Amino acid sequence: MPGATIISSGRYLPGKPVSNHDLARIMDTSDAWIRQRTGIAQRHYASQGEGVSDLALPAVQAALEQAEISPEEIDYIIFGTMTPEHIFPGSGALLGLKLGIPGVPALDIRQQCAAIPFALELADALIATGSARTVLIVGAEAHAGFMPYAWDVLLGESDRGLTPAERALATQHRGMAVLFGDGAGALIVRACNEPGRGLLASANHSDGRGHGYLLVPAGLFTRRHYWKMREEEQIPTMKGKELFKSAVTLLPEVVKEVCRKAKVSIDEIDWFIAHQANDRINSAVREALGVPEDKVPSNIARYGNTSSATIPILFDELWREGKLKRGDLVCFLGLGAGLNWGAVLMRL
Ligand code: UT7
Repeated sequence: MPGATIISSGRYLPGKPVSNHDLARIMDTSDAWIRQRTGIAQRHYASQGEGVSDLALPAVQAALEQAEISPEEIDYIIFGTMTPEHIFPGSGALLGLKLGIPGVPALDIRQQCAAIPFALELADALIATGSARTVLIVGAEAHAGFMPYAWDVLLGESDRGLTPAERALATQHRGMAVLFGDGAGALIVRACNEPGRGLLASANHSDGRGHGYLLVPAGLFTRRHYWKMREEEQIPTMKGKELFKSAVTLLPEVVKEVCRKAKVSIDEIDWFIAHQANDRINSAVREALGVPEDKVPSNIARYGNTSSATIPILFDELWREGKLKRGDLVCFLGLGAGLNWGAVLMRL
């Protein structure tokens, strides 16, 4: 059976970057705290009215251009996001429309920061069964919508003073808010008929016991008159320490699991393209696996945590810089809300 491989990629980051110093003007935080705890220096935010399918479009166009293929050649869209335009319907069909390919099946997947390992496994299965020849995978996020910020003050659009209530609300959510940034990444996946190339193995997991570690507490359809939920229940809450502990224990295990499945040793892997949640998480995973620093690239300083988009954005940077090459053995790994986590091994 043919294994699927990535043939091209693209990325898009909206607007001008917002630095840690900018955030420190609207909440009690500091550049030093954010850098030391996470490695983040700045992030981008989607503008008012800009949704994830808008962010995805230029990333997909860049990937199509690189592969020298037209949108009509896409047989399937897999769209990963935790910040869709609507509660329903999903953003995948909207992206299909914007690409001019209505009718192409689009799946919206809800694995949050672990979307890409799940999407790669799914794309491989669609290709192996003959359901698709060319699969478009997208990770796109517009977290700006849930940030409890005084946006006009943050973006310098107004010189009015911040109210104590605005500062207090942003400060209350600072542990979660400073992490996330917006952006989109796209991967185009196709069958690869060369033996030894393509997706070698995948290991993905979901565990509802960690459901409460990162969620929007507003209960949606568990409630009658769901639209009457309290405003502040729509701001996500995060148990950062629980997520941190889960990531540094489960990610090394899942990398070992995928290596066992593919019968390759950890030393044989050329690159670990890891979800960018926190530099300290990826350092701990790297140390637990005994992997040299240069095999675990990071770009979190520039973009923050863009959830489902971190892996394709990082892939695209390395691919376009010529660092990632055909034939390299790559491990994609990530953990996110759900909990969902996983790793995929692919020979490019
Ligand atoms: O993408 C997947 C989802 N997310 C993650 O994987 C996130 C995983 N977790 C983390 O990255 C870390 O837990 C954080 C970076 C979110 C937080 O780091 P931490 O070392 O766990 O800090 P903490 O939440 O225990 O907070 C330590 C202190 C607290 O003050 P006190 O109680 O010690 O006085 C917080 O109130 O730091 C305070 N704090 C902040 N101070 C300045 C929390 N957030 C901030 C902030 N600026 N932004």
